[in-house]
Amino acid sequence: MKKERILVTGGTGYIGSHTVVELINAGYEVVIIDNLSNSNRDVLKGIHAITGVTPDFVEADCTDLAALTKLFETYPDIKGIINFAASKAVGESMQKPILYYRNNLNTLMNLLDLMPRFGVKGIVFSSSCTVYGEPDVNPVTEEAPIKKATSPYGNTKQISEEIITDVINAGAPFKSVLLRYFNPVGAHPSAEIGELPNGVPQNLIPYLTQTAIGIRKELSVFGNDYDTPDGSCIRDFINVVDLAKAHVIAVERMLNDKCETPVEIFNLGTGVGLSVLELIASFERATGVKVPHKIVGRRPGDIEKVWANPKRANEVLGWKAETPIDDTMRSAWKWQQRLRERGIM
Ligand code: NAD
Ligand code: WQD
Repeated sequence: MKKERILVTGGTGYIGSHTVVELINAGYEVVIIDNLSNSNRDVLKGIHAITGVTPDFVEADCTDLAALTKLFETYPDIKGIINFAASKAVGESMQKPILYYRNNLNTLMNLLDLMPRFGVKGIVFSSSCTVYGEPDVNPVTEEAPIKKATSPYGNTKQISEEIITDVINAGAPFKSVLLRYFNPVGAHPSAEIGELPNGVPQNLIPYLTQTAIGIRKELSVFGNDYDTPDGSCIRDFINVVDLAKAHVIAVERMLNDKCETPVEIFNLGTGVGLSVLELIASFERATGVKVPHKIVGRRPGDIEKVWANPKRANEVLGWKAETPIDDTMRSAWKWQQRLRERGIM
């Protein structure tokens, strides 16, 4: 039997597409809204190849209140929202702060505005470990202090969390689950969907796989003089399919009135910190492919080390990141090779 309909904003994007697959696998009806500013329609074919289902798709901008209203009128059965739609490049947000504040915040406010009118029971929000800044203690729990954001992008995540909390405290008749992702990496093991970086990648894994396949000459490791065992930065690299599964659990909680508080917050990470050099070693071990790399200076603004304490998500959601890092690296490599086969990059 089909379950409720879920609206996935940004559903053709990287994390969104993997989540749509898991929602369909769990029996949900899905409608995606995406303006394709950082994705394309071919993602729908990838979702179909994995699930046998092509989800309903509306090409529109979530900052367009009229278009969003029309969508809810067309799909009056929407019971939950997962809001991925956002601009996410930290560097670009420094250059174009208004674009980031407008896109990320207006998208969220439009959704919150329409939810009561259309009887939507809950919204899952994509937050980030960026809200913790450079943490005083690792692993980081949800109680760790929120540090002043170092970019407009990071600030949109902090403000978004506050907006949702304020709106619900003011009596809005819905629930919210705020998911703070650590560093999502990898691709679906089928290589039918994955991350499609625009231009020169800023993030480690797409740069690494593009170097491994020869698009980039060598990977620059930003700093080996940090206060870490091998001197490179430490992150919590979380497999994107594992991450996607947590969204299905969050939706189920909201729709079945299982939330313990009207706003719930969960860290989504593995609980294990890996250094940049360890990650390169994992990729080489898992794929047998060497990654030319050199140590260069630190990247301004980088956090030295951050990894999650995922205990709350483990215990309350019954969710755990399970994929070994070497498998995740193999999936990222398979996806990069598939992009090459398709002549995309
Ligand atoms: P992504 O860019 O691949 O996906 C976002 C999707 O939203 C894209 O398909 C884009 O076209 C769409 N979009 C953007 N603005 C829109 C708008 N106004 N209307 C409709 N569609 C719009 O990004 P992702 O990596 O999948 O990230 C998803 C969410 O998770 C974002 O909110 C991001 O900030 C957050 N997040 C990502 C990471 C990460 O490292 N990837 C980490 C923490 C949090
Ligand atoms: C990881 C590590 C780099 C590229 C960013 C956002 C954060 C979150 C996730 C959304 C760092 C090093 C990288 C390279 C390198 N997004 N690196 N050479 O900085 O942890 O987080 O994405 O919310 O907000 O800031 O991710 O992948 O850019 O970097 O050495 O070419 O890899 O210095 O230590 P980051 P990243």
